[in-house]
Amino acid sequence: MKGIFISFEGIDGCGKTTQIELAATYLKKKSLEFVITREPGGCRISEQIRTILLDAENMAMRPKTEALLYAASRIQHLDEQILPALLEGKIVLCDRFLDSSEAYQGYGRKLGSGYIRGINAYALEHMPDLTFYFRCSPKQSRVRMGPRQTDRLEQENIDFFERVCEGYEQIASRDKERIFCIDATANIEKIAEQVQRHIQNRLSKEE
Ligand SMILES: Nc1ncnc2c1ncn2[C@@H]1O[C@H](COP(=O)(O)OP(=O)(O)O)[C@@H](O)[C@H]1O
Ligand SMILES: [Mg+2]
Repeated sequence: MKGIFISFEGIDGCGKTTQIELAATYLKKKSLEFVITREPGGCRISEQIRTILLDAENMAMRPKTEALLYAASRIQHLDEQILPALLEGKIVLCDRFLDSSEAYQGYGRKLGSGYIRGINAYALEHMPDLTFYFRCSPKQSRVRMGPRQTDRLEQENIDFFERVCEGYEQIASRDKERIFCIDATANIEKIAEQVQRHIQNRLSKEE
């Protein structure tokens, strides 16, 4: 695979969108080709699955249904968008990937890492080269998100998000080569510099 696959992880409000945009500005300046995409979603079918997943009316959704829909959305997105872009040598900036499922469905919904990794075997074969995990407490994230309209997952209680954060910590400690933990409470520009440094290191490795 010629391109570089980069994912951005952490709970809502941690700064993923902010940092993806700054990373994109940086790549543009360097005249490097990139695409920005997101999970769940990123292509027509996966965006339709996203609508079902995030619909605040779908409170009856079972944890396993949720996990399988995320996996289905991911497989489609990976095959239709991410892998072709990487084959063309592009840098893919992806807002969430498999780590989100492990943290939210594995830990938050208590389905366990094994179950999530099992149903995502195809995604496991194509993991990001580089992942940024923005560490942020559920309380801090709530403050940052302000009165923005919440979707089905965002309506969960604080215990759920504490488990999600614990999940992210476990995942990050297991995969230190790929995942870089960043203090999401730091200054936006300082965080962007860290992200750029890691991307630059990765680019130098490819040369
Ligand atoms: N490092 C930071 N310090 C303070 N505020 C931040 C920081 N990063 C992002 N924000 C603000 O927090 C809010 C949520 O950021 P956003 O990038 O949308 O998070 P996410 O995409 O992870 O939900 C936005 O208002 C953004 O401007
Ligand atoms: Mg966002």
